[in-house]
Amino acid sequence: MKAAAAIACSNVALAKYWGKRDERLNLPYMGSLSITMAGLTTMARFEPRTGTRSDRVVMNGAEAEPREGKRIVDFLDLVRAEGGIHGALNVAIDTNFPVAAGIASSASTFAALAVGATAACELSLTDVQLSVLARRGSGSAARSIFGGFVEWLAGGAEDGSDSYAVQIAPPEHWALGVVVAVTDAGRKRVGSREGMAQAVRQSPFFPSWLETHWADLDTIRQGILERDLGAVGAAAEHNCLKMHAVSMAAIPGLLYWAPATVAVLHRVRELRETGVEAYFTIDAGPQVKVICAMGQRATVADAIAAVPGVQRVLLSEPGPGARLLEAA
Ligand code: PMV
Repeated sequence: MKAAAAIACSNVALAKYWGKRDERLNLPYMGSLSITMAGLTTMARFEPRTGTRSDRVVMNGAEAEPREGKRIVDFLDLVRAEGGIHGALNVAIDTNFPVAAGIASSASTFAALAVGATAACELSLTDVQLSVLARRGSGSAARSIFGGFVEWLAGGAEDGSDSYAVQIAPPEHWALGVVVAVTDAGRKRVGSREGMAQAVRQSPFFPSWLETHWADLDTIRQGILERDLGAVGAAAEHNCLKMHAVSMAAIPGLLYWAPATVAVLHRVRELRETGVEAYFTIDAGPQVKVICAMGQRATVADAIAAVPGVQRVLLSEPGPGARLLEAA
């Protein structure tokens, strides 16, 4: 074991992962596609811990809550098992945006943990292996291993060995702007894990979600390759609204939106009517992510920040994949 540090960005899914075919291994029913978001990062630092067999996990300066801490330690156990390594770690995890509120902090967290913990355990993994590993922590983390525009291939193998992400285009492929509207920075009530399980089991619309998802994914992938914002944006909005409709129709119904979430959706559509090409998407929380041409990001951000109920906006763009830092 040695000291190591890694950093990873969050990501925003344009074609969503929403439904697991295997809950233990985080294997999805569907492929998904995202943009890795520059500047919205999690840093994870590791140091060997002597004189004890248990890890210590500190998140944003405070001892991790038992449930969160266990999730991290379970993940470290996977890494140790992979390398046949024993030894406890001190782990410090710092995220620079609201955590567990639907901005995919689990994506940046587990991508940073995968890269950092394997280095701390002196394991050498390929990016694909890192993506498989990160997926075990949180599905969407499989995508944050890579930068730019990233597709997570659903795969079909029972052991999950073919369920990993690949980069379909690097960050510089397309100058897109991303504006995140924070409408409620508090913790979400139903996490994505429980939310998707509920949608799979309890929503009468789940089969149609699945059936129609692949066409959205193809349109979004093609649109990204052709830098066609209209095609990507329309398909991403459609995919997002379907994911939420499926969840609302579960029993009990899931409602991730706050009043200001809806207000932002209307504002985005009004912007389009005035010629500003902007499109929304929402993950398992009340925040809205808006994509637009980079040249219009400031205009979009100003318009969104002025919507009543929006607490603040975060600015992003396609960013880099997870990487090691000089160990502190
Ligand atoms: O990685 P998880 O288990 O937090 O699930 C993420 C689910 C969504 O953010 C709603 C969609 C996605 O593809 O990221």
